[in-house]
This record gives sequence, C-alpha cells and structure tokens, in this order.
Amino acid sequence: MGRNLLKDQVAIITGAGQGLGQVVAREFAEEGAKVALIEINPQTCAETEKELKDKGYPVLAYPISVTDMQAYRAVVEDVIQKWSRIDILVNNAAIAIYGTILEDNYGDWRKQLEVNLDGYYIGVKSVVPYMVKQNYGRIINVSSIQGFASSGMCGAYNASKGGIIAFTKSLAVELAPYNIVANVVAPGFMHTPMSFIDGVDETTTEEFLTWYVGKRKVPMARTGYPEDVSGTVVFLASDYCRYMTGQVLIVDGGLTSTF
Ligand SMILES: NC(=O)c1ccc[n+]([C@@H]2O[C@H](COP(=O)([O-])OP(=O)(O)OC[C@H]3O[C@@H](n4cnc5c(N)ncnc54)[C@H](O)[C@@H]3O)[C@@H](O)[C@H]2O)c1
Repeated sequence: MGRNLLKDQVAIITGAGQGLGQVVAREFAEEGAKVALIEINPQTCAETEKELKDKGYPVLAYPISVTDMQAYRAVVEDVIQKWSRIDILVNNAAIAIYGTILEDNYGDWRKQLEVNLDGYYIGVKSVVPYMVKQNYGRIINVSSIQGFASSGMCGAYNASKGGIIAFTKSLAVELAPYNIVANVVAPGFMHTPMSFIDGVDETTTEEFLTWYVGKRKVPMARTGYPEDVSGTVVFLASDYCRYMTGQVLIVDGGLTSTF
C-alpha cells in the first residue's frame, strides 16, 4: 500500500535478509524506492532479492559483510554505476551475544562492536562522499532501547547501541551543511529471528506474558513486529524528515515511558 513517499530514491539497506531489514526493504520498494540489499547470509539475501524482483521492483543484492570495507566500497560504486546516486542508507545489520560481564569474553565484545559499530561506520564512510556531492542524504541508524536502558546480559550490544546514538548526533552536526540528515530508530521488543535467545522466543516466555503483557509493563501489552517499526524508518527516509536530525525515535509500545 505504497504512497510513493520514496519515489525513485536509491536506498541501501543492511541486514536485509530477514527481520526488520527485510521488512524495510519491502516497504521502501512499495514506496517507490530502488533498493540495494546488503546481507551476510547469501541465501536470505537471494530470497529477499527474488521476492522483490518477482513483484517487479528495482533491486540489487550484495551478499557481503558490513565489516568488509573493501567489499562495501565496491557495492557502493556498483550502485552508483547502475543508479547514479545514493539517497538513503539504513544501517540495520547487527548481532547480539548474550552473557553477563562475569560470563562473556573479549572475543564476543569485539565481534559485536565490529558488526554493530564498525559496520555502521563503514556504511556511512562509504556513502557520504556521494551524498555530499548530491547535497542530499538520509541516514537512518537502527539502535535499540538497550542503547540507554538495560535488562542485563548484553553489555557489548548495549554499548554498541548507545555508541550509535552518539555517533548519529555527531553525523547530524557534521553533515547538516550538505543537506544530509541522520537519525536513529530505537525499537523495544520486536518479534524477529533476533528475539530467539538460545532457541527460546523471548516475546513468548512466561515472564514476557505475565510482566510485560499481563501487567502492561509494555503499555501496548504486546510485542512489536518489524511492521510496527518500518513506517518510522520510511518517515525518516522521506522528504517529510528534512529539518529533523540527530534525533532518536523510540518505537517500543510505551515500555520506556513506564517505571
Ligand atoms: N529484535 C529485537 O527485539 C530488536 C530490538 C531492538 C533493536 N533491534 C535492532 O534492529 C535491527 C534489526 O534486528 P532484527 O531483529 O531484524 O535482527 P535479525 O537478527 O533478525 O536480522 C539481522 C540481519 O542482519 C544480518 N547480518 C548480521 N551480521 C551481518 C553482517 N556482518 N553483515 C551483513 N549482514 C549481517 C543477519 O544475517 C540478519 O539477516 C538490529 O540493529 C537490532 O539491533 C532489534
């Protein structure tokens, strides 16, 4: 049910093989955008590409890791060669590894910062020269409510998500002279493959159903779905978002408004 909010805009979306990234890719295409998918999993990357192609949307797919700067740069050059510009970057690909500070290890810390922080930096660094030349750009960095609150068990993930908020504010200040805006979407609970921890869907556990739903700790009394968040990403990518930059839009069913 697209309204052509992104008509002819060229967008790169990372982590587009499943979860939020896949839904954002779908909605961007429905809104008229040309979408370039980046996804480390070649199978899910090809599946999203096929779905969009079969519907007749313009799509390019790149099964690479966001941590590979050389490959990322080659992707950006290819998109520019084929579609001449890059208007939107959605930094979305991230990983979460669970464990307290007593259990986790430095390797896990590094891995998460490499994907969740370095990967976002590499994306911005690769596209920004083209956005500067165009004097136009929209950067949307997907963070999390875990960027400013924690339920424990994922210190490195939280650090990366908080870091992304600070990074986005810096981008907002530095890139405003080039008509490039940078904002953050911070989802709360979201039912995606990432919400499965050790094979258990955290949005269906007894704790979730009694505390977050039953006692309305999430005031909307349900988990979120990628489709609850993707519209906010569309807004931030659209021309409606031309004077807002450096901001964090929280999409959590009210969770962080309670105490
Ligand atoms: N699911 C949640 O509850 C939740 C809550 C708040 C924020 N978020 C954030 O939303 C975003 C999307 O999460 P999701 O739930 O859709 O996750 P997901 O795990 O379902 O999907 C992430 C996608 O990114 C891909 N990916 C991982 N590492 C990559 C790499 N190095 N290079 C390229 N692709 C890579 C994965 O293969 C996967 O397809 C993430 O930034 C996440 O931190 C999720």
